[in-house]
Amino acid sequence: MKLTLRIWRQTNASDKGRMVEYKLDDISPDASFLEMLDVLNEQLIAADEEPVAFDHDCREGICGMCSLVINGTPHGPERNTTTCQLHMRKFKDGEVIDVEPWRARAFPVIKDLVVDRSPLDDMIQSGGYISAPTGTAPEAHSVPVPKPDADRAFEAAECIGCGACVAACPNGSAALFLGAKVTALGLMPQGQPERWDRVVSMLDTHDDAGFGGCTLTGECTVACPKGIPLDVISRLNSDYLKATAGGKKK
Ligand code: SF4
Ligand code: FES
Repeated sequence: MKLTLRIWRQTNASDKGRMVEYKLDDISPDASFLEMLDVLNEQLIAADEEPVAFDHDCREGICGMCSLVINGTPHGPERNTTTCQLHMRKFKDGEVIDVEPWRARAFPVIKDLVVDRSPLDDMIQSGGYISAPTGTAPEAHSVPVPKPDADRAFEAAECIGCGACVAACPNGSAALFLGAKVTALGLMPQGQPERWDRVVSMLDTHDDAGFGGCTLTGECTVACPKGIPLDVISRLNSDYLKATAGGKKK
């Protein structure tokens, strides 16, 4: 495949940044998007030019590190697919492809396509955990969990913390990420003791980090590579209202 890439290059956080065009020949349609960028970087290094910085780790769709806006869409054109699992056969021979970093006020660019997503970690640190000592694993049948709750919690727990929801949101909100965490923990018996403090603390951290408010446009769930459903945000809002109104009922 022949490709024209227009890639966002930015030296550091204070650099203005710009799109730079690169031509690639002979890219295998079976290459992943990141492997295609590896080929570009090998060529840049061979030409004594600065390679393009981009985030990645597992390349298996599980770590949440890959984070590219491809032709205007976080993680590119294939639904429920991370950038690292996207393959070049999804593009046309000769296509012009724009590659940009996540764009959100809370995610400043560090270099080229790499942004600082530590505000997501800050939210986890402020409440996205269960602190009760669990000891050895209890006998599974001693803590019954209704099947619909278990299924819903499992679905929410699939969030890999990539931040595509934030990049897709016109308000730069992390409500889908937050809703996924609050739902996954709040539906489990082990998550009950901290349920109300968790939602208040995580939402406060969300707002302090500069994420915007959710207006339920739904772009987040479309961009989410794990298909986290929009209704986790309803649960987030419901828990927050109950926590702050003092009702604290299920
Ligand atoms: S909700 Fe989806 S898009 Fe948002 S961080 Fe989790 S996996 Fe990524
Ligand atoms: S590199 Fe781990 S999910 Fe893409």
